Amino acid sequence: MTRILGIESSCDETAAAISVDGRTILCDVIASQAEEHKKFGGVVPEVASRRHCENILPTVKSALDRAGLTLSDIDAIAVTYAPGLIGALLVGTSFAKGLAAASGKPLVPVHHHAGHIASNYIAHKTLEPPFLCLVASGGHTMIVGVDDYTKYRVIGRTHDDAAGEAFDKCARVMGFPYPGGVYVDRAAAKGDPTMYRLPRPAVEGSEYDFSFSGLKTAVINLVHNAAQKGETLDNDSLAASFQATVAEILTSRTIAAAKAFGYDKVALAGGVAANTGVRTTLKAACDKAGFGFYVPPVSLCGDNGSMIACQGYYDFIAGKRAGADLNALATMPLDSAMQPPCGSAP
Ligand code: KG4
Ligand code: ZN
Repeated sequence: MTRILGIESSCDETAAAISVDGRTILCDVIASQAEEHKKFGGVVPEVASRRHCENILPTVKSALDRAGLTLSDIDAIAVTYAPGLIGALLVGTSFAKGLAAASGKPLVPVHHHAGHIASNYIAHKTLEPPFLCLVASGGHTMIVGVDDYTKYRVIGRTHDDAAGEAFDKCARVMGFPYPGGVYVDRAAAKGDPTMYRLPRPAVEGSEYDFSFSGLKTAVINLVHNAAQKGETLDNDSLAASFQATVAEILTSRTIAAAKAFGYDKVALAGGVAANTGVRTTLKAACDKAGFGFYVPPVSLCGDNGSMIACQGYYDFIAGKRAGADLNALATMPLDSAMQPPCGSAP
């Protein structure tokens, strides 16, 4: 039995969890700062780092207490080292390095997006690579071939805004608080998705890539023009039209990539995987194409410690180790993350 303590602090959630053999989660603790950042309309990096500093020790301690374990029962400490807000990542990586040094346990560096993908292993015990995964979050949107538990090829990516970013920016002009994705989702349930015809921007010469800035600008212009003319828009139907457009863009590229690269299983991950429209549209397209479809429960779509503890297990058994010189990185492509610049193992 292998128990991994996973620590996540890449954005505005301080999280810790313990996995057993990768697939079972013993405990999952999250200290969210979302309410605090709401008043600024987005995550303030300096504030996020300070809150992580305050929350990290109680969060990790609480995870161990809830599992009824001590550090001596843990086989390795896994931590998100990239990508994310640098000051936020540094809190998690520094804390994990201290914990590893003090306990003599191995330190395992985990890529945040690999963690999002791994949330599917917790939810679907029989899911194994190879499969295709659409990873859509606040900072990234990409189509990833998961060829093994630690082997990825990025097939498509966004050229500008991430899907979650487009949700949040459109949510703002619709009058919703940050992060707005979930509010758009709720409003969309009450609206008519055919009421507003929005653009579906394509990236020339790149069938599997995304561009969301034109769609975002179209929504913002629609709202501003209506305000200037004193017209009232149907907010629920605007949310529904926007959501249906994003779902259609994400789904069409993902299905095309699965067909072209020969994957018959398709997974969804990242904060935007919580979106009702994206989940149902991609599932329907997978059913139609005869592909297996996998998505985590909504509780595992956003940033959490379980996904790091789960991927940490697969990275641990693959031999990934970090030393005291592990650095946090604001950017790091998933398919370059096989050999993290993390120095020598102790
Ligand atoms: O993965 P995540 O928690 O953090 C990052 O790694 O970025 O993703 C956060 C993003 C935000 O943009 C948030 O608005 C979006 O996920 N999100 C949603 C929903 N729930 C969260 N977007 C659309 N519909 C939702 N239900
Ligand atoms: Zn994330």
